[in-house]
Amino acid sequence: MLHVPLLALALALTPACRAAPAPPDSVDDAAPAARGMVVTGHPEASRAALDVLRGGGNAMDAAVTAAFALAVVLPNAGNVGGGGFVVLRMPDGTAASLDFREVAPGAATERMFVGPDGARVSSVRGHLAAAVPGTVAGLLEALDRWGTMSREEAIAPAIRLAGGHALTRRDAHLLNYYRDEFLGFPSTARYFTTADGRRYTAGEVFRQPDLGRVLQRISDRGHDGFYAGETADLIVAEMRRGGGLITHADLAAYRAVERPVLVGSYRGHRIITMAPPSTGGVALLQLLAAVEPYDFQRTDPAAPRQVHLMAEAMRRAFADRSLWLGDPAFADVPAGALTDPAYVRSRMRSFRPDTVSTSAAVGAGAPAPRPEGSETTHLSIVDEDGMAVALTYTINDYFGNKVVVDGAGFFLNDEMDDFTTAPGRPNLWGLVQGEDNVVRPRARPASSMTPTIVEDPRGRLRMVAGSPGGARIITTVFQVLVNVLDRRIDPQTAVSLPRFSHQWLPDILEVEPAYPEGSRNALARLGWDVREVSTFGAADVIVVDYPPSGGRRLLGAADPRRENDTALGY
Ligand code: DON
Repeated sequence: MLHVPLLALALALTPACRAAPAPPDSVDDAAPAARGMVVTGHPEASRAALDVLRGGGNAMDAAVTAAFALAVVLPNAGNVGGGGFVVLRMPDGTAASLDFREVAPGAATERMFVGPDGARVSSVRGHLAAAVPGTVAGLLEALDRWGTMSREEAIAPAIRLAGGHALTRRDAHLLNYYRDEFLGFPSTARYFTTADGRRYTAGEVFRQPDLGRVLQRISDRGHDGFYAGETADLIVAEMRRGGGLITHADLAAYRAVERPVLVGSYRGHRIITMAPPSTGGVALLQLLAAVEPYDFQRTDPAAPRQVHLMAEAMRRAFADRSLWLGDPAFADVPAGALTDPAYVRSRMRSFRPDTVSTSAAVGAGAPAPRPEGSETTHLSIVDEDGMAVALTYTINDYFGNKVVVDGAGFFLNDEMDDFTTAPGRPNLWGLVQGEDNVVRPRARPASSMTPTIVEDPRGRLRMVAGSPGGARIITTVFQVLVNVLDRRIDPQTAVSLPRFSHQWLPDILEVEPAYPEGSRNALARLGWDVREVSTFGAADVIVVDYPPSGGRRLLGAADPRRENDTALGY
């Protein structure tokens, strides 16, 4: 199931991750702050967001500013050509979420990725892989509903960065690494490769004037600066050149959707997370409910007994994900029933502390029917008043479908691959998915993105969390929450510790390279098929501490697996 280019890339770019986890005082660990904290996937975006907070903007102002900035400085994941989710909690504890996931074009069909001879039509490269982008609609709407700044103010730093920003080491590596793939698409080659084959180097200034013009149109005209007029014309022209499906009508019809947040509890904490079409929130609440009866305090995170328990919980959650989850507008997604602790406990009845089960034997469960209340980057922000924002957005693979819209200078997503593109066919993240998630016109593909906010048992803001990483987003967020809430591990260590993951199929227990040898061997003896994979996820979190002397301390932790990720507080 390994996505080989990603594996090779991670190994090439993150040699430090193969060694021991970063110590708590690593450079990713922002000094504790009293007033505001931002953790994002790029230093430029973190700086822009921090400036907003210092200038009196709220957490949503800072999040939207950072997300537009990331669209410029982090083209592998930050975007205007993709989509995502944002979860927020107001200082008074009320919570909300906005779904700006991409939708399938109106002309999409269930079998569009199956050729006449049954052959695979790519859902990850090229124009057909692109779904209708939702990011611009989502960011503008979030700003409008919950921010205080004008869109002109929120987009200004991104426009400035499009005028030129100094590449970090990782920025330069990523562009160099993907050069050959970029050369396959003329527009991408023009914007993101050097004409003479020279390698990009850290510190050189990278300019994106066409993207700057797109951002200026959004600043001037709002939604219509992207979904109509010149930007829409450029997207549709790009589609026509490459045989893609997105039309003017698809763009004009795109809307972000406000959804009730999904709420669960864990040892007295209130967990506020994303509802479907994210599968992350459902799976996270299932995982937490599955392990809640067990004591995790003061234990070694790599203790084989705990890994065994957590991985068996993961197997069951991902089996359910495969069958039950899709776009709630098209399929009956029983999120409430799936996250009912009694249901989860019934699923765990087959758990044996001394025996490894198999995914062949553990299929999806049958939750009681119940009426329902209804390459990625994550950022976490808390402002002075206590507003908290968790935003994860994506173009799926690194640099999306690798196609840059000619004349507009931004990458399009390959989110069509998050649908079930053919029965039994694993997606880019190795996920085998079900019928509820087949391609349908204007449907949103199921997602693993898990932006999450945690309140402590006294109802105070405790944690803001999320991660990229495909299917392993869910297992990453789960482990980081357990590390902080149960094991009381400091936030930087909590995100740095080596992780494991299980996703039902393939039936293997993935461990990161730094995973302790002793635990691996013990798990293998227990019967797990343990496989080493490259590092995964990039959990950017904020933890709020309430010292007995009063006040609060904001602890920001950026995952050292991605060296661009930066925590800044004030
Ligand atoms: O929505 C999803 O689940 C995927 N498109 C996320 C992809 C991802 O996390 C890539 N980042 N490493």
